[in-house]
Amino acid sequence: MIVEPKVKGFICTTAHPTGCEKNVERQIEYVKEKGAINGAKKVLVIGASTGYGLASRITAAFGMQAATIGVSFEKEASGKRTATPGYYNNRAFDKNAQENGLYARTINGDAFSKEVKDEVIALIKKDLGKVDMVIYSLAAPRRTTSDGVTYTSTLKTVGEAFTQKNWNLRDDTVNEATIPVADENEILSTVKVMGGEDWSDWIDALVLNDVIEDNAITVAYSYIGPKLTYPIYHEGTIGRAKAHVSKTAGEITDKYSDKGIKAFVSVNKALVTQASAAIPVVPLYLSVLYRIMKEKGIHEGCIEQMYRLYSDKVYNGSGIRTEDDGMLHVDDLEMRQDVQEEVMKVWEEINSDNLLSLADTKGYWLDFYNMFGFKLEGVDYTKDVAV
Ligand code: NAI
Repeated sequence: MIVEPKVKGFICTTAHPTGCEKNVERQIEYVKEKGAINGAKKVLVIGASTGYGLASRITAAFGMQAATIGVSFEKEASGKRTATPGYYNNRAFDKNAQENGLYARTINGDAFSKEVKDEVIALIKKDLGKVDMVIYSLAAPRRTTSDGVTYTSTLKTVGEAFTQKNWNLRDDTVNEATIPVADENEILSTVKVMGGEDWSDWIDALVLNDVIEDNAITVAYSYIGPKLTYPIYHEGTIGRAKAHVSKTAGEITDKYSDKGIKAFVSVNKALVTQASAAIPVVPLYLSVLYRIMKEKGIHEGCIEQMYRLYSDKVYNGSGIRTEDDGMLHVDDLEMRQDVQEEVMKVWEEINSDNLLSLADTKGYWLDFYNMFGFKLEGVDYTKDVAV
């Protein structure tokens, strides 16, 4: 069938198989061109199908020549509905890995569940013996814990409501969005979903079943960002969850110090992904940031970020480069003083009349469409494709 984008606000309900494949291949090419990383050899990526997790898996496989197991939660096509982009990405990744002689297995299921953990453990035992790196890159709206309780994450503030400029994606105007205050239950639920508990459960399960190497490393991803977005991100419900992820990193490292397993948090750059597009205020910040970083020639996407993380900060040949806060930072360029000063200046001035000239809305939308396999160069969108 002919697949066209169907965009509703911050989500696109269709995905293009060939476009998604192209997207994966483009990232593989980037890593191959940048060159080999002397890193991990057997890598488990949890949340491997899109965004930062996919870029991490591509970096591990095509940069480190690692065998990879990827876990994600994607839907296959049914009837006239296309599959989700992550489904096509996984398929393209597996195909390319195979063509390059790299071991790759992808498990589609709920990473929070015991069943999926057991399945992954059995697969590691059978095929790899042990893993030496675990990347935790889940971004999920809800989690059902082993006692059957389902928690839902919310993007709200903590303390008081927050009103800020917002780009209305439906009609390209700048309005104001008010983000309401979360109650205690919403904070707790967000921490349950996006905090470090499940990350820690994974490492416990891997250790218990003896499928993780001594001195293995595990990395989870976080975001801090500028003061401008603090109320909605860093100091909001999601920020509470991220603080819990940081605390969990320390706990994992302490708990398994006898085995030398070390857990790290990497603070990444704000980018358009399915997870970030859903946060109010953030798309406007992103499109302003994109314009400024592109003008300065320092803009990066997921693959550039992840290649730099693993080649420079983790496997650089001279030890893991954390900053004073104990975390890895590839948000350094986003947070550079000159970049943030310019963002703030633009932020003061931006309104519906000058939005298109002050913000890189085009770049935002291109990234958005690309995520779903649309508007990629070299893809004939008029051609029939099997979904
Ligand atoms: P994403 O939405 O592109 O990827 C999420 C991944 O999680 C997908 O592979 C999806 O299939 C998987 N997933 C979701 N629920 C699952 C479940 N129940 N079981 C198995 N897999 C499941 O998100 P993105 O943006 O790449 O986020 C990954 C991490 O990076 C998150 O921790 C996020 O907070 C962090 N981060 C994101 C930034 C951004 O600007 N996008 C910036 C800094 C950090």
